[in-house]
Amino acid sequence: MPDQPETELEVATPAEAPLLANLLELYIHDLSAAFPAIQLGADGRFGYPSLPLYWSEPERRFPFLIRERGRVVGFALVTRGSPASDDPDVWDVAEFFVIRQQRRTGVGRRAAVRLWDQLPGRWIVRASQGNPGAAPFWSSVIAQYSGGAAVQSQRPGNPHLVRVFSFESRASKSP
Ligand SMILES: CC(C)(COP(=O)(O)OP(=O)(O)OC[C@H]1O[C@@H](n2cnc3c(N)ncnc32)[C@H](O)[C@@H]1OP(=O)(O)O)[C@@H](O)C(=O)NCCC(=O)NCCS
Repeated sequence: MPDQPETELEVATPAEAPLLANLLELYIHDLSAAFPAIQLGADGRFGYPSLPLYWSEPERRFPFLIRERGRVVGFALVTRGSPASDDPDVWDVAEFFVIRQQRRTGVGRRAAVRLWDQLPGRWIVRASQGNPGAAPFWSSVIAQYSGGAAVQSQRPGNPHLVRVFSFESRASKSP
């Protein structure tokens, strides 16, 4: 469909939990290259035990699918409250993923901007230094989105340092 928006971010329904579980396997497999603590289960799956909470705690957890021209190409899991903040109301990007085939085409940037614009307030994004793509991706996207106004800090991680970005959603600045 020619008039379909390029990148869409849609709330994942409970019926889409198996789809998200499948995408989480791809995502965790990617992360397992950088984090030795991630172990494949005996059933050949990594698993993501907190996934059901994204529908049983709807006031604090928000699951999204990323679609490109209608096809699922990734996901974002967002929480209200962050391990990197004392403020229970900040938004935190818990997990974020774009399938390999679609990477470096701007999907991640467009999906992140949609996410931040949809949920007004202060955002926290955490990027492990051990994940080679994450820090360059988030620094580039957040610098552009926040106009350079994001605050950066570091916190210990296991086993790598974690860069923490904090910034306001553009939507929260609108009149
Ligand atoms: C990180 C990730 C989400 C990026 O998604 P993407 O759709 O490829 O990102 P974009 O194409 O929108 O990239 C935007 C900019 O970020 C930077 N960037 C993205 N991936 C990068 C990488 N691997 N290395 C260096 N810079 C990168 C670039 O500046 C890029 O702009 P450019 O392509 O014009 O140079 C994707 O690689 C991914 O899912 N990785 C595995 C999971 C993960 O690490 N998630 C993030 C941590 S939660």
